[in-house]
Amino acid sequence: MPPKKSAGFKEGDAKKGAGLFKTRCEQCHTTEEGQNKIGPSLHGLFGRKTGQVEGFAYTDANKQKGIEWKEDTLFEYLENPKKYIPGTKMAFGGLKKDKDRNDLITWLRENTK
Ligand code: HEC
Repeated sequence: MPPKKSAGFKEGDAKKGAGLFKTRCEQCHTTEEGQNKIGPSLHGLFGRKTGQVEGFAYTDANKQKGIEWKEDTLFEYLENPKKYIPGTKMAFGGLKKDKDRNDLITWLRENTK
């Protein structure tokens, strides 16, 4: 049997996503323009290529991934960041539940503009 394919992004619950951002991402990321922490600001994330935040020292791995951040790429990345970008310095194990990623991405889409 071939491995079960991930279902892909589906609209989630932005309220739950806000809570996930607070507990899982906020120690390293803001959504404010120009405010980098341990990780780059996520302001303007959707539609931007990897590794584009000015003044943030990315790894080459992150810079050279070269994909565009949007629902589907985030859905795959956030499940297992080190698998999607081997060599990344983002010390985050991943959100394994599809529903958690859907909720978080739904919130991010509205709050990184
Ligand atoms: C322990 C700190 C830490 C946590 C927790 C963390 N990140 Fe990161 N994140 C980073 C670092 C550092 C980078 C830069 C990685 C590199 O250059 O290899 C990064 C990179 C990223 C990128 C790529 C940005 C770009 O411009 O290419 C995204 C998207 C991202 N993180 C989203 C998230 C989300 C969403 C969460 C919560 C689920 C999260 N991160 C949790 C530290 C963290």
